[in-house]
Amino acid sequence: MKQYLDLEDIKDLDNLIQKAITLKNNPFHHQELGRNKTIGLLFFNSSLRTRLSTQKAAQNLGMNVMTLDLKTDSWQLEFEEGSIMDTTKAEHIKEAAAVISQYVDIIALRAFPTLIDKEQDQKETILKSFQKYASVPVVNMESATAHPLQALTDAITITEHSIVKRPKVVLSWAPHPKALPHAVPNSFAKVMQMMDVDFSITHPKGYELNPEITQNTPIIYNQEEAIENADFIYAKNWSSYTDYGKILSTDQRWMINLEKLNNAKFMHCLPVRRNVIVDDSVLDSDQSLVIQQANNRTYAAQAVLKELLENL
Ligand code: CP
Repeated sequence: MKQYLDLEDIKDLDNLIQKAITLKNNPFHHQELGRNKTIGLLFFNSSLRTRLSTQKAAQNLGMNVMTLDLKTDSWQLEFEEGSIMDTTKAEHIKEAAAVISQYVDIIALRAFPTLIDKEQDQKETILKSFQKYASVPVVNMESATAHPLQALTDAITITEHSIVKRPKVVLSWAPHPKALPHAVPNSFAKVMQMMDVDFSITHPKGYELNPEITQNTPIIYNQEEAIENADFIYAKNWSSYTDYGKILSTDQRWMINLEKLNNAKFMHCLPVRRNVIVDDSVLDSDQSLVIQQANNRTYAAQAVLKELLENL
């Protein structure tokens, strides 16, 4: 692996899942691999899990870690080619990416969408600019349209907890008071399409994800019908993709409760709003996998970093 910008960078998903599970059983086995190597974690946006789990993954591999919060602790970056930089942006990505590449061996980056300018968000300007101007591998820690470390985590978690050969997995939209990005549902849909699962998506009309991502995945507008006999229910809010970034509904009837969960396992990437997305009774039950999912963030990141280190 030369970079991890999206799930297409994975050559063999099953193999990578098994490697992550092996690392989970023996996390310090490859401490020499990362010795004298450094990862730079660059955040344009907040994080709890991604920041700590990626740091832990790197440390498990013997790496040094440097973290920079670009929103608060660094110069504002200019990404436009040929820009006359006479306003607030003090440093161009060309210099910034080249300079950071001299300090670190891998750059990992988080940059959320605007949810205002669809065309701009779809271009993935920040992620792609780092890829273009950095001379070291780049890892996506959630960009405008994708969260491939979360998706790999989710694939690992479903693999670990499946008790049938081909589980039924349903991605259900759930209500939320703020407009949220499409990165997690996009990447979850993509990774489920790469696995041998019975996968469908349920959401209110108007919440269709990018059709280039959902492709032939069944979309069922009736949640009750969609989740019947599900083995895994993955709840997530996202804003409208068509009416870009808008909240079209906050209908609480879409919240997941124990009755809807039935015999299924509950999944969510976290952070989650209790009693808005999902009822307390679900999160506090043995059927919730959210904590195990968050734990797997470390081993997903570790499997990816190990592949990158082996190719430096
Ligand atoms: N799931 C996830 O990416 O969590 P953080 O936003 O806390 O990193």
